[in-house]
Amino acid sequence: MHASEQRIATSVLVIGTGGSGLRAAIELAARGVDVLAVGKRPKLDAHTSLAAGGINAALATMDPEDSWQQHAADTLKESYLLADPQTVQIVTEGAARGIEDLERYGMPFAREKDGRISQRFFGAHTYRRTAFAGDYTGLEIQRTLVNRAAQLDVPILDTVYITRILVRDNAVFGAYGFDLTDGSRYVIHADAVILASGGHTRIWRRTSSRRDENTGDSFRLAVLAGCRIRDAELVQFHPSGLIAPEDAAGTLVSEAARGEGGILRNGLGERFMSRYDSERMELSTRDRVALAAYTEIKEGRGTPAGGVWLDVSHLPRQTIMTRLPRVYQTLLELQMLDITKDPVEVAPTAHYSMGGVWVRPEDHSTDVDGLYAIGEASSGLHGANRLGGNSLIELLVFGRIVGQAAAEYSAGLVAQRRSAEALEAARAEVDQLLASDGPENVRSLQRAIRDLMTEHAGVVRDENGLLKGLAELTAVEARISQLGVHPDIAGFQDLAHAFDLKSAALAARATIDTALERRETRGCHNRSDYPELDPSLQVNLVWSAPGSVERQAIPPIPAEIAALMREVSTAGKLVE
Ligand code: FUM
Repeated sequence: MHASEQRIATSVLVIGTGGSGLRAAIELAARGVDVLAVGKRPKLDAHTSLAAGGINAALATMDPEDSWQQHAADTLKESYLLADPQTVQIVTEGAARGIEDLERYGMPFAREKDGRISQRFFGAHTYRRTAFAGDYTGLEIQRTLVNRAAQLDVPILDTVYITRILVRDNAVFGAYGFDLTDGSRYVIHADAVILASGGHTRIWRRTSSRRDENTGDSFRLAVLAGCRIRDAELVQFHPSGLIAPEDAAGTLVSEAARGEGGILRNGLGERFMSRYDSERMELSTRDRVALAAYTEIKEGRGTPAGGVWLDVSHLPRQTIMTRLPRVYQTLLELQMLDITKDPVEVAPTAHYSMGGVWVRPEDHSTDVDGLYAIGEASSGLHGANRLGGNSLIELLVFGRIVGQAAAEYSAGLVAQRRSAEALEAARAEVDQLLASDGPENVRSLQRAIRDLMTEHAGVVRDENGLLKGLAELTAVEARISQLGVHPDIAGFQDLAHAFDLKSAALAARATIDTALERRETRGCHNRSDYPELDPSLQVNLVWSAPGSVERQAIPPIPAEIAALMREVSTAGKLVE
């Protein structure tokens, strides 16, 4: 045993203190189940707090014709038929209850004068069904969930970095980690573990994730535990990320800007979406708007700094100040630019991992007994294109369901076998990294991975580029064995970054392997060497180890939902 190793026992351990982890923890605590939530960043600053424009539910407060069935149909249609129909039904049917839960916890939704929850348009939704709190929706949800968790006395340790999930005979028995401040170790024994530690979009250079979040931790923890990853290649590039300043490149300009009437123009002043989706224009799907912006820039019609213009300056000032306050503040802070007067230069930014840990639709259990995955860590809802606002509702709906499932698993566990070897391996891994004194630097290797993913696995991909990416990744992996890891008086962040780097390397490999295998263009995945959609690839790609990708069939869509799926013209969706 390590000199400063704390042992904790709980019924259910939640890894990640963003919205999905907190909602699951709240469900467990409300059921009287012993729960502990741990995370690597301050709980009020978890990534959920960045989610901007809204949360979807067919509440029909603005458009009475809306229904959960139509929401399901829109989600399936725009997933390019890669979403799991049961997962979609669970989320869309349960969405109203998710909103009610939030209201009960005190969430300050924007409301109409008569008290109805306001709902706005987001791209490719048939009706207005995106509820919001200005463009700070995620921040308000995070605050609301943190408060509710505090009312229920949920213990939260938000300086704990988990390095391994502990497994014996394919059943989970806890996790191992260390404290980011003092380096003390944690052995946390648990009946069940819920993995809620986000996606992998920080492995691209321009990304809406901040430093040290969404570094692929869920992928690594899950795969080492014995899970598989579904559709790692399906990464959503949001059309509007800031270009400058360099150290904040990719920062999101919410889709709410387009939802409220914002207009996109190229460097020549043309409203270019008319060439790519003349019906839906700026409110087309994210994959199409992102590809359109990418194409304009690539073909030399971009702005001076290599982007396109997003303009809201024609909107009433009052609309901007009440509905887009964060965009307004962000641009003033970062660029001294007043969006009520001037357009913003934007370009596509890596925004959301639509793939993730393979889970069963009904309860998000994984390949490992007692291990669940949720939120951006999981997969199944979004397929090849996520509708904006669907991820926030997913975490509310599945937070409740997964909390309940983990509670039942824990209650039904008759005995648990642990493994001294698994624990010793986890301990040794941390010891070994701490003893590393090689010449390689974590930050520069993180940068190398972000560069190669941007260069070879970005908005548009092809076989040659992906193979080059794989070769460059192999070279980076070799350098990871030469790391120098140097925690200092300030804390153990350098150790955390080293684990983040290992996660990023694994997530990059899963992404490139599956991107190579998906020889077609579908949704966010644009292959210039395979520009057509291939019906035989209407499957999920399931990755379990380097080079190992399996195809998995997707169940049929119920007739009631299929009947509501509108034909959408694909004219204009061209890969150069
Ligand atoms: O643009 C946005 O506000 C992002 C929303 C989302 O990704 O759901």
